[in-house]
Amino acid sequence: MGPSSALLLLFLIGAEGSSLHYSDGHSSRLSLEKTFGLSVKDSQCQRMLKHLHNGARITVQMPPNMEGHWVSTSCEVRPGPEFLTRSYRFYPNNTFQANQFYYEDNHCTKPTYTLVIRGRLRLRQASWIIRGGTEAEYHLHRVQMVCHTATVAKELSQRLKHSCRGAVKGHWESGVIYELWSEEGGYDCSRELNFAMHELQLLRVEKQYLHHNLDHLVEELFLGDIHTEPSQRLYYKPSSYQTALQNAKNHDHGCIACRIIYRSDEFHPPILPPRADLTVGLYGQWVSQRCEVRPEVLFLTRHFIFHDNNHTWEGHYYHYSDPVCKHPTFTIYARGRYSRGLHSTRVMGGTDFVFKVNHMRVTPMDLATTSLLNVFNGNECGAQGSWQVGVEQDVTLTNGCVALGIRLPHTEYEVFRMEQDAHGRYLLYNGQRPSDGSSPDRPDKRATSYQMPLVQCSSSSQSSDHSQRDDADRPLPRHNDCTGCHRGSQKHHIVALAAFVSTLLLFWQS
Ligand SMILES: *[C@@H]1O[C@H](CO)[C@@H](O)[C@H](O)[C@H]1NC(C)=O
Ligand SMILES: *[C@@H]1O[C@H](CO)[C@@H](O)[C@H](O)[C@H]1NC(C)=O
Repeated sequence: MGPSSALLLLFLIGAEGSSLHYSDGHSSRLSLEKTFGLSVKDSQCQRMLKHLHNGARITVQMPPNMEGHWVSTSCEVRPGPEFLTRSYRFYPNNTFQANQFYYEDNHCTKPTYTLVIRGRLRLRQASWIIRGGTEAEYHLHRVQMVCHTATVAKELSQRLKHSCRGAVKGHWESGVIYELWSEEGGYDCSRELNFAMHELQLLRVEKQYLHHNLDHLVEELFLGDIHTEPSQRLYYKPSSYQTALQNAKNHDHGCIACRIIYRSDEFHPPILPPRADLTVGLYGQWVSQRCEVRPEVLFLTRHFIFHDNNHTWEGHYYHYSDPVCKHPTFTIYARGRYSRGLHSTRVMGGTDFVFKVNHMRVTPMDLATTSLLNVFNGNECGAQGSWQVGVEQDVTLTNGCVALGIRLPHTEYEVFRMEQDAHGRYLLYNGQRPSDGSSPDRPDKRATSYQMPLVQCSSSSQSSDHSQRDDADRPLPRHNDCTGCHRGSQKHHIVALAAFVSTLLLFWQS
């Protein structure tokens, strides 16, 4: 055997190694379970996260069947902020009518105006950027507007008069439908409103049976995210998702907003039940409700612990290479202090906070990430060249980890809000990360919209897992039957890794 074939063999083994690492994944999962005490004595929080890790309840439809009537499940907040609810209908002939109802308040009780958007949608292909997503193209037929109060009608017609002369003649009245844009008409009033429907360029439909009940199917439609900078909306191609809409036919029966929005139209906008703003109480533990997507290729789940007695926090960030959060790539543990600010002056219903990170540990969970960390030279991410799969290292002394784009200490300006869901559980929303990949490290970069909410899993900040850990504990049966499932996604994983460093900047850039 010549040297070149030996080299070739080495490559083949190398390639095998990558698929092997998911049998290896057993041990990394094991260490995940060990590190965070995922054992038979799991706390509620870890049980909830583990449920997501298995990703078993959710099925993703590829290509998605969009047909039907999809509605918001609550009052949504878009960057700006804008408060809105959505009611989108997709017809069998590939046309759609999307109603967007806008409000002046954060509980969606006072409608201001409604946009009625008609057009055609064409599905393209599975997304290369966001695994599990489908790319689509849309074509608008017409955009119309109805104002719901005389004051709003007057204000908007004044504002739009300058940018779309011809469309606005005199003052508008409330309750009358006006054209903002049409294929035939020569004017375009949507620019003034930073209006775009690019959210239709990235789609995902998920089905899940609630409470393991086969009669209780819920279908969710995820559409592309909206750029955090309103003026960039017209140029932005989505790279993650907004809050999901639910199929009105198969929605969670506890969703009162769904029913109200389902029955509404552009002349009778949904008015959601008034609620009081909950005071944000940062105590106890909070976990992700689903596998979350960060712009580009990052999938993760989060677990936060807040100690309100001394204003410190701890966060576990579990990163994955796949959209159901099954294949771990690395985890980050961070901790620091936080301080509460005042009610937000920009985002109604929000409360300002400042978060500091001054301690961090990193655990690579697969070979690819481990190699990446080992390639970095210098005293810039833990002990050079010493990274091993499943072995945690403290990177506080090296001021974070350059390979992951994390520098310590780090400060972020945050906005939070709290809500109770239809089942009475507390939800915690924190600010959406800036779409340009920067970090909210200055007060003026504070978000004006939110990420997917975390749900409270314990009202105590004492993590029972560590105190209860017992070597006799056996890990629960693992559902990582993954024979052959990784090989096909290996290429994707490498693509993901290539974008890895840059996407992490979205996360903790200093
Ligand atoms: C598509 O279907 C909808 C609903 O049935 C109908 O209102 C619309 O006119 C149809 N559009 C075309 C172009 O056929
Ligand atoms: C803050 O309080 C928590 C819980 O009481 C404790 O575990 C933690 O060590 C404290 N942190 C600091 C920095 O005092």
